[in-house]
Amino acid sequence: MRGKFITFEGIDGSGKSTQLRMLASELRLRGFDVLTTCEPGGTPLGRRLRETFLETEETVAPLAELLLFAADRAQHVNFLIKPALENGKIVVSDRYADATAAYQGAGRGFDEETIKQVIRLATGGLKPDLTLFFDLPVAVAASRTTSRSNDGEKKNRMDSETFEFYERVRASYLKIAAEEPERFRVVDASGSIDEVKAKVLQVIKAFLD
Ligand code: ADP
Ligand code: TYD
Repeated sequence: MRGKFITFEGIDGSGKSTQLRMLASELRLRGFDVLTTCEPGGTPLGRRLRETFLETEETVAPLAELLLFAADRAQHVNFLIKPALENGKIVVSDRYADATAAYQGAGRGFDEETIKQVIRLATGGLKPDLTLFFDLPVAVAASRTTSRSNDGEKKNRMDSETFEFYERVRASYLKIAAEEPERFRVVDASGSIDEVKAKVLQVIKAFLD
């Protein structure tokens, strides 16, 4: 039996990780077999890659960045996501291939065809059954990540990108969501944690029913 593959997308600080943790607990309470994971860094190799290219002061060439996210994803799909889906699990991933389209495509400026090819290669064509895009104005997301790093969380290279970069990334996510309305649900992420949680549960309940 094939499980279900759900992904969470959004700009940094949009509340994905917070909501993913809460959703997983809710689903487990209801008896679902859930695997939570993330990109980059869902596998041991992925975590090592993440350290080498995301948590570094070294300048990383945009093409190297694109291919490293793809390498992380290929490992993730092969050794974690596919086996879990084959075992009937609900896999919920904090980011997946749409992040490459938004960040490396719109953010860094790679053309659509290159992005599509790299994604196809890395995923073998595996697409999420459902993607929640947590939509939030860039300024609000930035103030949330600032307080997160004041609380001691490590910053990474992407956290130092410009406001315009994140505007392009957000616009790209909204465009992809509009192009694939069957797969995407846009969740307004500007409310309180509990308000957003209620919306997430509503969407997931409708999907699983
Ligand atoms: P992401 O995984 O999308 O980068 P996080 O879940 O880590 O986002 O949230 C970023 C920061 O904002 C964290 O400090 C988190 O506690 C806080 N946060 C998450 N959701 C909300 C919310 N709805 N309102 C206010 N702060 C939030
Ligand atoms: P992370 O700390 O996991 O994200 P968040 O701040 O949302 O918790 O950092 C991952 C960074 O990598 C984030 O800025 C998005 C970026 N990224 C890409 O640029 N391309 C990709 O394909 C993926 C998966 C992530």
